[in-house]
Amino acid sequence: MLALLCTRIGTPDDLVLTELPDPIPGPGEVCIKAHSVSLNFFDTLIIANKYQVKPALPFSPGAEFAGVVESVGQGVTACKPGDRVMAYCRFGAAREKVVLREGQVITMPERLDFDRAAGLCVTYGTSYYALKDRAGLQPAETLAVLGAAGGVGIAAVEIGKLMGARVIACASSDDKLAFARERGAHEGVNYATGDLKAELRRLTGGKGVNVIYDPIGGEQGEGALRAMDWAGRYLVIGFAAGEMPKLPLNLILLRNYDVLGVYWGAWAERNPAAHRENLRQILTWVAQGKLKPHVQAIYPLEQAAAALKAISARQVMGKINLRP
Ligand SMILES: NC(=O)c1ccc[n+]([C@@H]2O[C@H](COP(=O)([O-])OP(=O)(O)OC[C@H]3O[C@@H](n4cnc5c(N)ncnc54)[C@H](OP(=O)(O)O)[C@@H]3O)[C@@H](O)[C@H]2O)c1
Repeated sequence: MLALLCTRIGTPDDLVLTELPDPIPGPGEVCIKAHSVSLNFFDTLIIANKYQVKPALPFSPGAEFAGVVESVGQGVTACKPGDRVMAYCRFGAAREKVVLREGQVITMPERLDFDRAAGLCVTYGTSYYALKDRAGLQPAETLAVLGAAGGVGIAAVEIGKLMGARVIACASSDDKLAFARERGAHEGVNYATGDLKAELRRLTGGKGVNVIYDPIGGEQGEGALRAMDWAGRYLVIGFAAGEMPKLPLNLILLRNYDVLGVYWGAWAERNPAAHRENLRQILTWVAQGKLKPHVQAIYPLEQAAAALKAISARQVMGKINLRP
């Protein structure tokens, strides 16, 4: 089988495409023929050794995918050859065949295609967990989503709308804001041309927003925090801008704020039943047409470097996938 491998820490151009022996599933394991692998921003970090997950070399990037079960090891009961499945695996998916523990595999709903299924676990899983389980977002609250057209961002826009919130999309271009509006955002703030804090305050009649969803950090973080209402909740999702904002603790005290860390992958591993229940809800919403996962482009495995560079260059709305 063909595998995209990170054999040395570096850039997307250092990844190599290699022929490896077909894997054989051991007891309790499943071998899946990958049809679509969805990339995330953290794939650009993991190959540079800048992510919290640090796999031993060589490894394949790619944390989520969808495909067909090819063979199963001894004792597997959750699925059988021919089943259409999707999975989250932290890394290791950018290859033609992937072996996982049976507990990691989720049966795909009938009408969902491989490309959209591939990118559902991480982005929608993170955003639903953050908004429901961490922030306790309530109907009629105001939610501001930074990086609103990106993978986790657009998932937060869609889920926030479904949960009944008033969603303000915040992004670096009017095209990205239009994309977020098409998917349910009520308003938009372009933080490349305007002042995020002032705009969020203006759009809330001076009150401020109830919940901030922040996957970018950087210079926008403090402005977003300062635009929260009394008892606002600030969701720390990631630092795509590269810098970790240093939030003023005095404001957190004076305004009764909660700053909430969100590490969805670790939570999902520690709480498999709750994670599956969240995914079940997400898949139900997708089946009902209430969530519309968007795949902007699909690259062949040999063009993975171009796909990862598009993510780093902020060119992606929704998701980018690889076709092994
Ligand atoms: N906490 C968790 O459990 C969890 C789970 C999944 C992902 N994450 C994190 O969430 C963040 C976003 O992930 P994603 O896969 O959704 O990424 P993505 O699709 O690439 O979206 C990231 C967004 O960040 C904005 N951005 C601002 N500065 C940027 C820069 N210098 N380079 C690239 N993007 C920049 C861009 O929007 P604008 O151009 O509009 O600013 C972009 O749309 C990452 O930091 C990732 O590690 C965390």
